Amino acid sequence: MKQFSTSQTLNNLPKQFFASLVKKVGKYIEAGYDVINLGQGNPDQATPQHIVKKMQEAAANPVNHKYSPFQGYRYLKQAAADFYKREYDVTIDPDSEVAILFGGKAGLVEIPQCLLNPGDIMLVPDPGYPDYLSGVALAKAEMITMPLREKNSFLPDYSELPSDVIESAKLMFLNYPNNPTGAAATKEFFEETVQLASQNDICVVHDFAYGAIGYDGNVPLSFLQIEGAKEVGIEIYTLSKTYNMAGWRVGFAVGNSSVISAVELLQDHLYCSIFGGIQEAAAEALTGPQECVRELNHLYERRRNVLIAGLRSLGWNVTAPKGSFFAWLKVPEGFTSTEFADILLEQAHIAVAPGIAFGELGEGFVRVGLLTSEERLGEAVRRISELAIFKKLAPEG
Ligand SMILES: Cc1ncc(COP(=O)(O)O)c(C=O)c1O
Repeated sequence: MKQFSTSQTLNNLPKQFFASLVKKVGKYIEAGYDVINLGQGNPDQATPQHIVKKMQEAAANPVNHKYSPFQGYRYLKQAAADFYKREYDVTIDPDSEVAILFGGKAGLVEIPQCLLNPGDIMLVPDPGYPDYLSGVALAKAEMITMPLREKNSFLPDYSELPSDVIESAKLMFLNYPNNPTGAAATKEFFEETVQLASQNDICVVHDFAYGAIGYDGNVPLSFLQIEGAKEVGIEIYTLSKTYNMAGWRVGFAVGNSSVISAVELLQDHLYCSIFGGIQEAAAEALTGPQECVRELNHLYERRRNVLIAGLRSLGWNVTAPKGSFFAWLKVPEGFTSTEFADILLEQAHIAVAPGIAFGELGEGFVRVGLLTSEERLGEAVRRISELAIFKKLAPEG
């Protein structure tokens, strides 16, 4: 078969790390091992029934069999605005400050293409969600990383960035509760960000994918709750995690109207909007009963507690995440993150993501997803306790 060569744009795309992890883990599963897969970020619970029911009804309505309006139905934009008012006391104009997205990932990949010219500087956290790099590559932007260090609670320290970089940067991505570190943002940090962005004309995109998942009674802050935030940026919200709707592909961007209209313009050229049935179900999710969200948060918190307490009992001094459904664990001395992840897979049949997959500063950590039952997490701890390296660490008696 003739092989057509691919474009430079395609050749420039970063390697999808998770494809290789899935392959590696798949080999162990195929070989018949009982693998506890904590490597990826796919919610394990079902979408709440009232949302599914709305979709079933909506699927039978012929209105939804037609093309939906290019920029999505107004009722969904209104639902997004109502959600922000109810959850965060943030006022959003549904007509100019909401763009419907095919999941958060779509928005994150589209925005650099909307705002940047080739060579423009974009600031991205290290470690960070790998799909940010896809947006950078498609926009042919120059990426400068903002280190997230443990000593700064995994918040970037802007004074570490050279002043010429800050002055010329056009776009910044942030994400709290954070994937992969499980860190939470503070109001002071967001205020500092608004000030920096405003002084240097940087557009801030806050990826709020884990907005619903905060622990120890802490409700994650929306960037838009900060005074002046809408002037300098947008927030991306997805229904994937809050309502276990990762497979439905629906989310939205809210905030600065010039950015929202840029996203809508690009999307007008790329797609028609999402299937109307999904839009109806998404509106139901955002404005219907929210007990399911509280229960989900409690479920993840119980899982976090089992994992963290279990690992600490082995003498492994791990930090508990403040939000998100990931734990970011420091690798025991003497191993790289890949070596340690390989040991867990080969000797304990536990899959985790090596920190290096999230950037250079991810080295020295592994990311563990809280996406299986407390029993399975307990079993993971038991298997880890049998590894020779942990036998040495375990407290006596
Ligand atoms: C930090 C972060 N942002 C965005 C997303 C994208 O979510 P979705 O495209 O399902 O909305 C994810 C998914 O794992 C994520 O972890």
